[in-house]
Amino acid sequence: MPCSGRCDEPIPVLTAHTTLAGESAATLKPTPSPLPPANPSGNEEALFSNIRKQGHNTLEVYQDNGGFKALESSLKEGPIHVIEVVTKSKLAGRGGAGFPTGLKWKAVAECDRHPKSIVCNADEGEPGCFKDRALMDYDPFSLIEGMTIAGLATGAQRGFIYLRYEYPETNILLERCVAKAKEAGLLGSNILGSGFEFHLYIRRGAGAYICGEEGSLLNSLEGKHPFPRNKPPFPVTHGFEDKPTAVNNVETLCAIPHIINKGAEWYQSLGIGEHAGTKLISLSGDIKQPGNYEIPIGLPLKTLLYDWAGGPLDQRSIQAVTMAGLSGGFLGHQILDDLTLDDPCIRSHGSFLGAGGIMVFDDSRNMMKAAHDAMAFFAHESCGKCFPCRIGTQRLTERLNDDSKKLDLAAWTEEVSDINEAMKATSACGLGMAAPHVTESLMKYFPEQVKASTNSNS
Ligand SMILES: Cc1cc2nc3c(=O)[nH]c(=O)nc-3n(C[C@H](O)[C@H](O)[C@H](O)COP(=O)(O)O)c2cc1C
Ligand code: SF4
Repeated sequence: MPCSGRCDEPIPVLTAHTTLAGESAATLKPTPSPLPPANPSGNEEALFSNIRKQGHNTLEVYQDNGGFKALESSLKEGPIHVIEVVTKSKLAGRGGAGFPTGLKWKAVAECDRHPKSIVCNADEGEPGCFKDRALMDYDPFSLIEGMTIAGLATGAQRGFIYLRYEYPETNILLERCVAKAKEAGLLGSNILGSGFEFHLYIRRGAGAYICGEEGSLLNSLEGKHPFPRNKPPFPVTHGFEDKPTAVNNVETLCAIPHIINKGAEWYQSLGIGEHAGTKLISLSGDIKQPGNYEIPIGLPLKTLLYDWAGGPLDQRSIQAVTMAGLSGGFLGHQILDDLTLDDPCIRSHGSFLGAGGIMVFDDSRNMMKAAHDAMAFFAHESCGKCFPCRIGTQRLTERLNDDSKKLDLAAWTEEVSDINEAMKATSACGLGMAAPHVTESLMKYFPEQVKASTNSNS
């Protein structure tokens, strides 16, 4: 497949304040930079262990830092071993749903239909998430290596990176990196003389949030309208072009070379207590040091917010944070001190960690307005395939704007709760199921702000 036509140009060395377009720090918003700040805790990192090294996005430096050793050893040990290691590491999908990666790969490997594909979900449309961009811009060869190992493990000979439309510079960089890897015999036919072949293509996304949902993504990749697909069947058996496909997030795939190099036990041990591994968090909003952080799973939220990221802005206190970008709704200040960043804890509060976007809202924010803007986003991005979500997100947006004054608190609560329940029970994909987290959490943590926005006299 053709590249952008600029594959022969050298790969630019990116630093925190330069972009491929050559813009300087003066023309860019200074924060948050997608390049992670210096390791704030001294905790051992996996995905960010090399990312801050100058020139790590060039093949030469990547290889100097141990790059493609994991592919070499995977080629020697074979697919069964790779799947065993990934399964044992307890790596679970980092794109939102948290499905065990080893199990997904095993299902594709065991399916006897060809050709198989590895599809990297690099759509990163969730508001407040920018960690995949950091990985692709500053550590692109770990994604290429991770995808090639995934191909070896599952028997797929073709891979696609479905890249967020709004990352045009990353597109150019990835095209050049793929060309470089091909030139070096690390992609294409007969990789490293092993006889294994894997061909990698980059496709620009269609510029809609729903295209990150794996069924929509596969439809979009096939040139179809990006409606989510009904499940089952799942992509592992009926994915791209109806053939077995592993759809994995960028972060999931970038973890693979580290796990293969250092072992399943090592990766597991990076988490706290019974939690395995690490998670990238994109932290933004009313916080002193926004940015991308690699946390051990199970880290107390307050350690991240106060010790690592400097706490709220001066004279302010934290009122709420979002989880999973916007999809997990809000968690209120009432519970933040006791929250740990792992799914069992977050789910016990009715939310989920998802792709790891956390937005901070301080006490200057009107949470009714924040909820309105969040719901307006979901209403705008609803694909319209099913009516609970198509109509529900619109109605909820109306209930969160000045229309709320038309109802008293009891009537408002009854109507909103009714819509929430209908959407959660009957929406066809994760967008419609997740959007009610916004209104549910608003009612749970900020009842006084809801009351003030309704007609309390009737
Ligand atoms: C509305 C919606 C948007 C999504 N957007 C993304 C996305 O941008 N990137 C991503 O990796 N997963 C996204 N997902 C999750 C994917 O459907 C899928 O679970 C994921 O790509 C699987 O990869 P993983 O197992 O490595 O996490 C989204 C899901 C939904 C419902
Ligand atoms: S839940 Fe929303 S986004 Fe998902 S299929 Fe239905 S209308 Fe489309």
